[in-house]
Amino acid sequence: MIQIKLPEEEIAGVPLKNHMLLAAGILGTTGASLKRMLALGAGGVVTKSIGPNPIPGHHGPALIPVDCGLINAMGLPNPSKDFVEEISPLKGEPVVVSIFGGTPAEFGEVASWFSNAAAFELNLSCPHAEGYGAAIGVDPRIVQECTEIVKTYNKPVWVKLTPNVTDIKMIGKAAEKGGADALVAINTVKAMRISTELCRPVLGNVFGGLSGKAVFPIAVRSVYDLYEAVGIPIIGCGGITTADNVVEMMMAGASAVEIGSAIYDSVNVFSEIAADLYAEDGIPAEEIVGCAHV
Ligand code: SIN
Repeated sequence: MIQIKLPEEEIAGVPLKNHMLLAAGILGTTGASLKRMLALGAGGVVTKSIGPNPIPGHHGPALIPVDCGLINAMGLPNPSKDFVEEISPLKGEPVVVSIFGGTPAEFGEVASWFSNAAAFELNLSCPHAEGYGAAIGVDPRIVQECTEIVKTYNKPVWVKLTPNVTDIKMIGKAAEKGGADALVAINTVKAMRISTELCRPVLGNVFGGLSGKAVFPIAVRSVYDLYEAVGIPIIGCGGITTADNVVEMMMAGASAVEIGSAIYDSVNVFSEIAADLYAEDGIPAEEIVGCAHV
């Protein structure tokens, strides 16, 4: 397998310690858990998505394991502005703050609270939150406006995209037009299960988002498509569990990756992957980013 060198420069405006970030939504709700993931080898961390008002989330069950992945319908639970204090001890660390809102103005309001963020990741892609996430992230005009307003806070802006669209390239281009520094592809794939004993949907919210190994090929295809359509860096996300998956994502066009569901199986996934991925005589990652394109 190809081995690469650790990054020597910022990636999409963020000084990452390696090419792998903790994805939003997993162990990202407290400063202590984010700090722990950095200590366990994450090159950067993305927080749980923070919105304009506190939300308790959908009623349970909110997370179910399925073959090759997880389906969640958490419902964007978050403490809103109180989260600023929670992550203040992490000042100077590569902490990307994931934010959401129902309008561009709400995105701007939430961004204005986080002067310590290394970057913002705009959640325009949660597939199961009424009025938020993918509900507005399928509209290129709104995606552009949300990006533009957060960009006024002079920090790198990453836009996390939903795969639940006909043409992900169109949404990616809108984010790029709005000034995005990177695209993150992908958020979860809309999904559900039904209990045949109860004759009812398993999730409290009826449907949710599928993540984990099952979505890896969808994520690779999305990154590949976006690489052909935009000129900004792409962060690959979705079902990555091995160093070879990281290399494959890079070959599709990703400059870095985010890892989430794999933590469910091993909290040491970052250091485990790093042991296989990096070598002092490895090649610079830039040499393989997008190399699969003909
Ligand atoms: C959730 O909190 O419901 C998950 C967030 C997401 O899918 O973006």
